[in-house]
Amino acid sequence: MILGSISENRSIEKRVAITPDVIKKYNSIGLKVHLSKDYALHLGIKDRDYEIEGASFFQNDQEVISNSNAILQMSIPTEDNLSKLKNDQLLVGVLNPYQNDSKLKEISQKNIKCFSLELLPRITRAQSMDILSSQANLAGYKAVIESFANFEKAIPMMMTAAGTISAAKVLVVGAGVAGLQAIATAKRMGAIVFATDVRLASKEQVESLGGKFLVVEGAENLETEGGYAKETSEDFKKKQEELLKETLKKIDIIICTALIPGKKAPIIIKKDMIDVMQSGSVIYDLAASQGGNSELTKVNEVVDSNGIKIMGESNILNKLPISASSLYAKNMYNFVNNLYDKENKNFKINSDDEIIKKTMV
Ligand code: NAI
Repeated sequence: MILGSISENRSIEKRVAITPDVIKKYNSIGLKVHLSKDYALHLGIKDRDYEIEGASFFQNDQEVISNSNAILQMSIPTEDNLSKLKNDQLLVGVLNPYQNDSKLKEISQKNIKCFSLELLPRITRAQSMDILSSQANLAGYKAVIESFANFEKAIPMMMTAAGTISAAKVLVVGAGVAGLQAIATAKRMGAIVFATDVRLASKEQVESLGGKFLVVEGAENLETEGGYAKETSEDFKKKQEELLKETLKKIDIIICTALIPGKKAPIIIKKDMIDVMQSGSVIYDLAASQGGNSELTKVNEVVDSNGIKIMGESNILNKLPISASSLYAKNMYNFVNNLYDKENKNFKINSDDEIIKKTMV
């Protein structure tokens, strides 16, 4: 069986699905790897670096597709490349099926089996494949770095002969994977960190990282069985708004990470709440591409509202694509390893396996 990976649509995606360090792992379970020319050259990784590990190169994407049984990608391929996929091939990646419904329906005519990794269940066995966690963790870190770079004051408290600079105060909205990494990163850099979430279970995690948890009354009921957030009631939203509005008067930087799976991100930081913040404050909205947690967020723009900068990008992981690709490639390997039947040297679509059942589109 041969795995192929072709160039991503580089205008929107810099990450790659296969890094040189996973080639030997694939080879060791009997899978060969085909890549298209200059596959990761934009990341400074030469074709030779892959060849040394055992990968083979083709001149273009078409040749890779024609000579592979499964195509492993970061994002869904371009329409042109999708049309080149062969009957009965496998396609694995972050395919975003809700947005790419018609494209996926079209390729299903050729009996192409698609697996979308963002649909992986959050079960222990799938932890090593969990791309949502590996990527969100890096996004949380980078959001803090970006917001600090745009904040025109120092972050840690400094006591000098010339006077004292007080520590910056950071609020993290949503304490899931990205939020917890944001708290840890901001703390490491000397900020005073506050956090809030609708899931009360996250209180202990926030506190273990040295953050102060802001409890909104009624939060205990807002967690699904799978550990995700439920949509909040109007009454909860009002209480959350009151609590945050008071807190925001003393906050310098907000990192927004709150999401509800399959739905538009909740608007938590409204315009009148931003108005109470001090000029020079920064809001980094990691939920920007899902609509944003702040009412003023505009994707890929820095909005200035009375001296407060509101930022959010469509793909922050393009700012650390090497680290993001490295973790993604390992997640992908673990997923493919589970899908591949080594004895019969074939891909086994075992629909009793929760991992396979949940990710197959
Ligand atoms: P996410 O990316 O879906 O959401 C981010 C955070 O925003 C969540 O903590 C959510 O509760 C919070 N949020 C949503 N609406 C909010 C609102 N209106 N106000 C304040 N906060 C709000 O979440 P993520 O990071 O994917 O984590 C989801 C769950 O999955 C967590 O319980 C996490 O611990 C769990 N998990 C489990 C893993 C496992 O293998 N067992 C692996 C990774 C995460």
